[in-house]
Amino acid sequence: MKFDVLTLFPAMFHSFMEASIVAKAIKQNAIEISLVDFRDFTFVKSRQVDDYPYGGEAGMVIKPEPVFRAVEFIRETNTSSHLIYFTPQGRPLTQEIVREYAVCENVIILCGHYKEIDQRVRDVLVTDEISLGDYVLSGGELAAMCFIDACARLQPGVLKDIESANSDSFEDGLLGYPHYTRPEEYEGMKVPEVLLSGNHKKIEAWRKEKALEITRERRRDLLDE
Ligand code: ADE
Repeated sequence: MKFDVLTLFPAMFHSFMEASIVAKAIKQNAIEISLVDFRDFTFVKSRQVDDYPYGGEAGMVIKPEPVFRAVEFIRETNTSSHLIYFTPQGRPLTQEIVREYAVCENVIILCGHYKEIDQRVRDVLVTDEISLGDYVLSGGELAAMCFIDACARLQPGVLKDIESANSDSFEDGLLGYPHYTRPEEYEGMKVPEVLLSGNHKKIEAWRKEKALEITRERRRDLLDE
């Protein structure tokens, strides 16, 4: 899966691409991340990408031409029909959305900054607008990294044990159940007996019950769905 990322801050991605599952996915050629600084596509010497909003208000707006020109450049090698713009106005990111995109060959991602991006970019180029949650980040980069990470771990061969992804929170519409590892007892705190029983049916039932309990307590909306 290839991600072409349009960003004004490519350096933000460097350590992200060098650690953990994302680094492994890149090494295995399961994903490729290409960073495009759309400041390189301005018409002006100053390389300024933003300007004052028409109609007068506080903040700056990203101009259309560097984005249109950068996308034209990307499209020379990436024919993806998906161009995702990360913005608080987008639909909330869910595991279902991640699963849909994780099977795509190519995705183009646009990270905004400042106030917003010129609406003409959104009208013409953007195919999907996604939000990380009901709060405002300084830019779309962190949201893009969350999205790429979530897609990377679903690529075949990236996780050691695909069962691990299948038992993640949200895979069955519920939050995940609790996990324990050795030792059996730590400072008086014991691992639940059932997990040591070797009885897989009982363990499965316990996990389902715990997942339901946690979901009921923390995210009743998921059960209503
Ligand atoms: N850019 C700024 N805030 C954001 C958010 N909440 N989600 C996605 N992109 C953003």
